[in-house]
Amino acid sequence: MNMDNFFWNGKRVLITGNTGFKGSWLSRILLNAGADVYGYALENSDKYSIFNAISLEKEMHCFYGDICDETKLSAVIAETSPEIVFHLAAQPIVRRSYDDPVYTYRTNVIGTASLLNCLRKCDDLRAVVNVTTDKVYENNESGDPFRESDRLGGYDPYSGSKACSELVTSTFVSSFFNPEQYGISHSAAVATARAGNVIGGGDNAPDRIIPDCIRAVRENKTVTLRNPGAVRPWQHVLEPLVLYIMLAEKLYEKGTEYSGAYNVGPSLKDCMCVEEIVKKMQSYIPALKYDLSTSERRSEPHEAEKLTLATDKIEKVLGFRNKWGIDDCIRNTAVWYSDQLSGKDMRVVTDKMIQEYFEEL
Ligand SMILES: NC(=O)c1ccc[n+]([C@@H]2O[C@H](COP(=O)([O-])OP(=O)(O)OC[C@H]3O[C@@H](n4cnc5c(N)ncnc54)[C@H](O)[C@@H]3O)[C@@H](O)[C@H]2O)c1
Repeated sequence: MNMDNFFWNGKRVLITGNTGFKGSWLSRILLNAGADVYGYALENSDKYSIFNAISLEKEMHCFYGDICDETKLSAVIAETSPEIVFHLAAQPIVRRSYDDPVYTYRTNVIGTASLLNCLRKCDDLRAVVNVTTDKVYENNESGDPFRESDRLGGYDPYSGSKACSELVTSTFVSSFFNPEQYGISHSAAVATARAGNVIGGGDNAPDRIIPDCIRAVRENKTVTLRNPGAVRPWQHVLEPLVLYIMLAEKLYEKGTEYSGAYNVGPSLKDCMCVEEIVKKMQSYIPALKYDLSTSERRSEPHEAEKLTLATDKIEKVLGFRNKWGIDDCIRNTAVWYSDQLSGKDMRVVTDKMIQEYFEEL
């Protein structure tokens, strides 16, 4: 795969959540590949976010609105007639889901239903990738890697809402995008991608470890690690994005044989605890200072301690393995933020990183 990939040239692509961290990187990659990229999301006013740092609004067709606003969303879909849809719009923060569970469920569950309902009327639709999370599984903290066939669940409202988003997708597939009706009453193949924790430049979300660290550096403060021992499958943002892209190509070209759910994550050796990740970041950004607060920790809402994924299904189906191990992942994240802290042109930095990544594929 390279940046002027023939497949994507001129394809009409809708990305929900394009103003967010993953959606911005995905938009940039697909713009570079020649796609006609439309976005639907809430506005993003944070000047440090990748969306604003690379002036993405000037480069793509942006529509602003709530994902649950079916009137607005269906007007956008009618106007843009997407062939491929990546659904990333969500309330993605576990801690916020404790503060506002109903908003989280509304956005993540009704939002998914609203989008899929609007897409039923889209004649040109060929492929949909719904981005959920590795937290969709019922987690008994055994530490065993989750497989796609494992039981869905979720301790906190975010995890539960994403498990519900999976169920909504599954019922819309059987009811409206049924594989047996493919090529008869519809032409769309749908998949869900359950990705592990992602890091990379330009994430501005609250209550995520790398953005928290970078905010602390900017403000010359010490970051407190709330959950230093929590083990997560870390990967650079480009890794799941390339898999979503490859999956969308397969859905578009080969149809429903590629439908279903896929775990997306790094190899098990790249699962690491929060404190180790921060220590590695510190080796690139010495101004990063952290402490471990045991008193605050006691009053923290529950978050899973252990969460790992079995990724053999997607590796077999797409013939792809993550390119950047944990060290490359952290180095490239640190490079992006260091360049931003020193005032570089982030559009140039971002495009160079994307190009380097794709050259290694
Ligand atoms: N970042 C990670 O580590 C990670 C890991 C696993 C899964 N995910 C999933 O990937 C997707 C993107 O995550 P991200 O990290 O880019 O999050 P983000 O918070 O940076 O971006 C979220 C996007 O969704 C949009 N959005 C939020 N609420 C909306 C609403 N009510 N209506 C319309 N748009 C709305 C925002 O405007 C933004 O564009 C999410 O579905 C998230 O659950 C992220």
